[in-house]
Formats: sequence, C-alpha cells, structure tokens
Amino acid sequence: MKEKEIKTFYREYSNPAEMDESERMLIESASEAAGKAYAPYSHFMVGAAILLDDGTIVKGANVENAAFPSGSCAERTALSYAVSNYPDRWAVAIAITALSKGIMTSEPVPPCGNCRQMLLEEEQRIGKPVKVILAGTERIYVMQSSESLMPLHFNKTNLNL
Ligand code: THU
Repeated sequence: MKEKEIKTFYREYSNPAEMDESERMLIESASEAAGKAYAPYSHFMVGAAILLDDGTIVKGANVENAAFPSGSCAERTALSYAVSNYPDRWAVAIAITALSKGIMTSEPVPPCGNCRQMLLEEEQRIGKPVKVILAGTERIYVMQSSESLMPLHFNKTNLNL
C-alpha cells in the first residue's frame, strides 16, 4: 500500500491592482455577464467571461429552468458558445463572478464539477492550460490551469479509444 498526496496551487489576490490589466478586464466582463443571468429560481446570478487566444472575449451566464437539471451554468454557457462559434480558437483564461441577491459575492465562487470537467476537456482539446480566475469582492483566486481544480479527473485517455 502506498499513501499518495496531490498538491494543487493557486494565487490569492486581495488587491486587484496587483493583477494584469487583461485579468481585471476579464473579471469586469464576467460581472457584466452575471447581470444578464436568467436565475429566477436560485436568484444566484453567475457570469463567466472567456478570453480566447486572439483576444476575443466570450461571455455567458447561468440559464435556469423550471425542470432544474435542464438549466446551464455560466461557465458551460460561455464555453459551449466559444467552442461552437470559434472552433479554430481556444480559451486561454476564464473569469467567474456571481451576484447573490443582486450583490457581488465577497468570496470567489468555484465552478461546479460539471463545469470543471468541461474546462478540462478544453485544456485537452487544445493541449494548453486554461487559467481560471475566481473573483469575489474580498479576494480573487487564480489557478494557472483548470487541472488544478480537479486532479484525478476522467479524461479521454481513460476511454482507451
Ligand atoms: N451555477 C453556475 O452558473 N456555475 C457554477 O459553477 C455553479 C452554479 C449556477 C447554477 C444555478 O443556476 C445557480 O448557480 C445556483 O446553483
């Protein structure tokens, strides 16, 4: 028997001024997107902004449904739009913010497991890391790669295709 440890790394910023201008702009875009969420059930409005390699920013918000599982998270809304409308481009970073009862959350909101799985697929599709920026008003977390969010994940190599 071997006991193993997995370490994951992220940066925490308490002052957005320490971040790159492009990262701050992406957070701003995510906040704009959050304001357009359709979240009549949870009232939790999430926004995601994806920076593509050519500088294009693709935004998405959560879209809920009365049949709860039919809704989509903000990250998946944005990623599906990016991959289907810009198939030759790739995501270099995603920023995520959320409004709870109309107010931006103080803590960063981490993506759910389904969204992490989709971000990982994007990393594998392009063979490059997708930076993840989780922004709250009190602090901001930055992961250099989506893989940091979900070690030991299922991926195409497990399919043995
Ligand atoms: N939500 C997201 O948009 N992204 C996540 O990663 C977690 C949750 C949405 C789904 C639902 O509309 C609302 O937040 C409450 O769970």
